[in-house]
Amino acid sequence: MPDSNLMEKIVSLCKRRGFVYPGSEIYGGLANTWDYGPYGSVLKKNVKDAWWKYFVEDRDDMVGLDAAILMNPKTWVASGHVGSFSDPLIDCKKCKTRHRGDKLLEDKIGNAAAAAVKLEDIHAKLIEEGIKCPNCGAIDWTEAKTFNLMFKTQQGVIEGETDDIYLRPETAQGIFVNFKNVIDTCRVRVPFGIGQIGKAFRNEITPGNFTFRTREFEQMEIEYFVHPDQKKEKFEEWKEQSKIFFSDILGIRTDNLRFREHEAEELSHYSSLTFDVEYRFPFGKTDDVETWGELQGIADRGDYDLSQHENFSKKDLKYRDPQTNEVYIPHVIEPSFGCDRAILSVLLDAYNEEKLEDGTERVVMKFKPNLAPVQVAVFPLLKNKDDLVQKSKDIHKMLKKSFRCEYDDGGAIGKRYRRQDEIGTPFCVTVDFDTLENDTVTIRDRDTMEQERVKTEELEEFLSKKLAQ
Ligand code: GAP
Repeated sequence: MPDSNLMEKIVSLCKRRGFVYPGSEIYGGLANTWDYGPYGSVLKKNVKDAWWKYFVEDRDDMVGLDAAILMNPKTWVASGHVGSFSDPLIDCKKCKTRHRGDKLLEDKIGNAAAAAVKLEDIHAKLIEEGIKCPNCGAIDWTEAKTFNLMFKTQQGVIEGETDDIYLRPETAQGIFVNFKNVIDTCRVRVPFGIGQIGKAFRNEITPGNFTFRTREFEQMEIEYFVHPDQKKEKFEEWKEQSKIFFSDILGIRTDNLRFREHEAEELSHYSSLTFDVEYRFPFGKTDDVETWGELQGIADRGDYDLSQHENFSKKDLKYRDPQTNEVYIPHVIEPSFGCDRAILSVLLDAYNEEKLEDGTERVVMKFKPNLAPVQVAVFPLLKNKDDLVQKSKDIHKMLKKSFRCEYDDGGAIGKRYRRQDEIGTPFCVTVDFDTLENDTVTIRDRDTMEQERVKTEELEEFLSKKLAQ
């Protein structure tokens, strides 16, 4: 059963321990913007590095890309985003708040039934279902109208002569427009994929739930190009790979993950088959509400994007198979991961409250060691003993070469352990008076809280083995 206060606890821990701060806070903030702090930015980098290593570096059929956020606006006409990337917007006439008509219907009648309601029927359906304004409780809706989610901005320096362009709403199009460049310059053969990590922007009508739905977010996307005959098999492979990534690499509990196939009415304008990987988020207001939220979509985009770009750019985007000489437009399987949502699920999954034998409680973030922002913390037992401090600093300097390491001499040792537990540091090394006698240190394990003495000269090997587990 999800803990209904878990989100609040995570938001508070993230602020308290330097993971995530509210954006532009000293100016009163900017709604639904978040800044990753010192520990959060390392956690984010670790998630992105793990993704890049697993899906790009470790595979022979993948290459990487880092395309520009600003693209020729024709891109978005060709991709269908100018025409179709919109949500149905409704206003509450009483309190003047704005909402997504489809989301309100989804919560009441389910995803597929809501997706089947046409724009012009949304108003009547909201009334028929008795759906109240989540803000003021009134049932006094405007008619629904389409609201394009793309952020517009201007390019150019002379006022009046600027061009409207868009901030990309997905990183995917940067990959499609470079398909030919990659084919022509790299030794790739279908089936192969291009991976990219980067920011995307959507003018969401109802952002919220911390970093789950924001207007600026980061995606980790793959466009995997296949012969149409290989589609089924490759789609299944990518489902399997996604599962491995979330459970084995990010360490998320499998009972908190599920696959959900999109109903026909829910499919995006480019897709004929989509599975979402969902996480059991604790967004519900009461203990018995489970809210499954999308972490990743795996879509069959067919040849939609390359065909559209071929039509609009008048450039040949076909692929010639070097063995069979067959010429065709490859089809695309797209595993598209939300980076911020992956991090949010890692944070939620890692959170543990434990009752200790002495009756006190501790909060501990049980990150996998590959993701933990700090892997080893080094403490002198006492701050005012120069020889303990010096020895700790020497050990810290040595361990820093191999691990993400932090030195801390502030406050009582128990408090320092609690702080590292909340940061999710797998091991703490304490230098005490015995260290000066026999060159051993105490290593405390975050999860078991057991302590053992290890010789300083064996420390690095000992920690390497433990952190690799
Ligand atoms: N290229 C396909 C695409 O963009 P999507 O399902 O719209 O598909 C992919 O987005 C992923 O991006 C989602 O599964 C989600 O994790 C993340 N995402 C989408 N909108 C988001 C938002 N407003 N805030 C945070 N993450 C978002």
